[in-house]
Amino acid sequence: MDGPYDELLALASVVAREAAELIRRRRRGGVEVAETKSSSVDIVTEVDKAAEALIFDRLLAARPGDGFMGEEGASSESTSGVTWIVDPIDGTVNFLYGIPQYSVSIAASTQGEVVAGVVLNVETGECYAATLGGGATCNDIPLRVREVVPMAQRLVVTGFSYVAGVRVRQAGAVASLLGRVRDIRRLGSAALDLCFVAAARADAYVEEGLNPWDMAAGGLIATEAGARLETRPGIGGRECVVCGPAEGFEELLQVVAECGFLQAPGEAE
Ligand code: IPD
Ligand code: CA
Ligand code: CA
Repeated sequence: MDGPYDELLALASVVAREAAELIRRRRRGGVEVAETKSSSVDIVTEVDKAAEALIFDRLLAARPGDGFMGEEGASSESTSGVTWIVDPIDGTVNFLYGIPQYSVSIAASTQGEVVAGVVLNVETGECYAATLGGGATCNDIPLRVREVVPMAQRLVVTGFSYVAGVRVRQAGAVASLLGRVRDIRRLGSAALDLCFVAAARADAYVEEGLNPWDMAAGGLIATEAGARLETRPGIGGRECVVCGPAEGFEELLQVVAECGFLQAPGEAE
């Protein structure tokens, strides 16, 4: 190891594997919804909380001065300059239903910039990883985005808000997009969606309303594999993430705008 962020990545990888093991074990005992958040379909299980507690304990035991921001509320101020941004289960609805597309997402940031990230698919064991400037891998194999193809041949991954009113507006934009691209996918884990762009399993990813923990690790993995990632004010009033190979990105952004994902310039929500 010789990159400046390799130690952070190694720690994140070990802790992600331990959390995934806990999640797999606890799932065998059955899953129940513990709480809801932004709407009745935005769920949290006891396993989300237990996994976050484990990740918090392990990371801060190894590096006591680090900060922590977890989706389920674990937090700590940083005195070391490093802050961890964690989604213990990204794709909780898939977890609930047993759809094998949910992940542990752990990112390390310094001065507001993500410098290391791991996204581990709990069921398949695929482990995506990246460090800033060090490239991206899946199970240690280097990743590279797909070569650009005409818009009509691009496969676009997307996702919807938990809030039904916003989802309806997003659906209108997706309906337009379907006429412009190869097809769309709604896979249910934003972190893995970004990794799919990195791994050449998708040509683009568009979604409004992500939180930092959804995209911190996956965003770095995508950009280190050759993607560009930008946000613009979305039609539902939150930032919309647009991610795709750097080549062909401007055209993607334009199509996303034309299809109605973004607020028109000057339009206030
Ligand atoms: C969600 C997933 C989903 C995305 C939502 C996220 P959660 O995270 O990433 O794919 O569409 O915006 O909130 O709730 O499963 O951690
Ligand atoms: Ca999430
Ligand atoms: Ca989550």
